[in-house]
Amino acid sequence: MNDSMNEILVSAQDVSKVYKTGNIETPALRGVTLDVRHRDFLSIVGPSGSGKTTLLNLIGALDSVTRGRLTVLDQDISAMSKRERADLRLRSLGFVFQAYNLLPVLTAVENVEFVLELQGVGDERRKRARQILEQLHLSELADRRPTELSGGQQQRVAVARAVASRPRLVLADEPTANLDGENAENLLRMMRDLNERDGITFIFSTHDPRVISYAHRVVTLVDGQVVNDERKNS
Ligand SMILES: Nc1ncnc2c1ncn2[C@@H]1O[C@H](COP(=O)(O)OP(=O)(O)O)[C@@H](O)[C@H]1O
Ligand SMILES: [Mg+2]
Repeated sequence: MNDSMNEILVSAQDVSKVYKTGNIETPALRGVTLDVRHRDFLSIVGPSGSGKTTLLNLIGALDSVTRGRLTVLDQDISAMSKRERADLRLRSLGFVFQAYNLLPVLTAVENVEFVLELQGVGDERRKRARQILEQLHLSELADRRPTELSGGQQQRVAVARAVASRPRLVLADEPTANLDGENAENLLRMMRDLNERDGITFIFSTHDPRVISYAHRVVTLVDGQVVNDERKNS
């Protein structure tokens, strides 16, 4: 295991993404160059339509780049098959995305177990799922279904699920979009503890100023380009 604080987990070099719908081409990212290092707690900010979700989708191996080179956990995303990308997502990444909402028919602890099951965790997954909820002070929610949880509670369970298998990198797309200020700050505090205590690298998009203040590094996108990349010394 490389213990260097400077280890690069994500390297984007001149990455572009153009969506094609029929004859219409929409450039979503235009030459993004970015290194994300182990233990970064990085926020991607920028106006709606600036390419935040597109960038997270690419880093999350959910979509393919149009041009440029993208390496995630030492694997060249642009050279990978769909199957290999699915494998990388399952084994090494955690997601808190709208498209990955909690499954409504399962309780909180079953949602966590389900992901562990997909990841091939055997008989101990029941115990592991309860353990992770306990560590994150969510035990009292374990047996509730998502409809019995507030928005803030659902997102905390979603983060628990994302980190259950100890991925090195967690991606969160506007994780506080539907939360009030207090719930947003609770969620960010939970994420930052996981970053500081367990060394999990986080990349999250937001345009909530209160959420941005928790980031150690802020990358600003405008029109698919990085216009600012700022590290905060705190
Ligand atoms: N699947 C898609 N097909 C076509 N255009 C898309 C698609 N997804 C996003 N776009 C376009 O790409 C640009 C960037 O979008 P997006 O990455 O969702 O920005 P953000 O998350 O910052 O709001 C926008 O112009 C958006 O309309
Ligand atoms: Mg978005």
